[in-house]
Amino acid sequence: MTSGLFISFEGIDGAGKSTHLEALAQAFRAAGRAVVLTREPGGTPLAEQLRALALSAPMDPLTEALLMFAARRDHLQQVIEPALARGDVVLCDRFTDATFAYQGAGRGFDLGVLGQLERWVQAVDALPAGQLRQPQLTLWFELDPEAAARRLAGARAPDRFESQPAAFFRRVADGYERRAQADAQRFARIDGSQPREAVWQQVLAAVQGRGWLS
Ligand code: TYD
Repeated sequence: MTSGLFISFEGIDGAGKSTHLEALAQAFRAAGRAVVLTREPGGTPLAEQLRALALSAPMDPLTEALLMFAARRDHLQQVIEPALARGDVVLCDRFTDATFAYQGAGRGFDLGVLGQLERWVQAVDALPAGQLRQPQLTLWFELDPEAAARRLAGARAPDRFESQPAAFFRRVADGYERRAQADAQRFARIDGSQPREAVWQQVLAAVQGRGWLS
């Protein structure tokens, strides 16, 4: 049986990951793989309800972090773990790196608490004690916060995160940078400032370079 693959997509709002999620799903399907395309916060009925709250209701940073991890736990149990056990490819629009970047670096929330939550939530039955479920590859779309804001402007009504100032997104980008430095092998940097086709070629190269698509 083929083993499952877990790939996350990360970056600040407006960095342009969404179209490439769809394209990568198509590429894996064309190669005969079953694909689960999902997102965080969200991906299950409960987690989508938590998402709606987290993206709209004012709350303190601990509440926000707990909601993100509560949604993640349900998503792992209901969707991600069963899909990986079947040998599917899981493409996830954001995962835990987003919590360290947005709640940690962006909001300034305690990284030690986030680390503890990560250790509780991502300890799963399929892995030996002490190991955490993490993506095998994280495609990190990098784009200057001003350029990202210009892309988002007028697209739709901004949510609680999208409405943050450029300084917030600079901190978020720094947060991603620190996560990437701490786990360099897992991260592939995608230069989001390039034209769409060139960005797609970078995505493809990162996946092909790991031998997962030919
Ligand atoms: P996003 O993934 O950009 O979806 P959409 O394209 O539909 O807006 O939106 C999710 C938002 O949630 C985004 O602003 C980042 C934020 N977020 C966190 O703050 N922490 C998290 O742990 C996750 C997963 C997302």
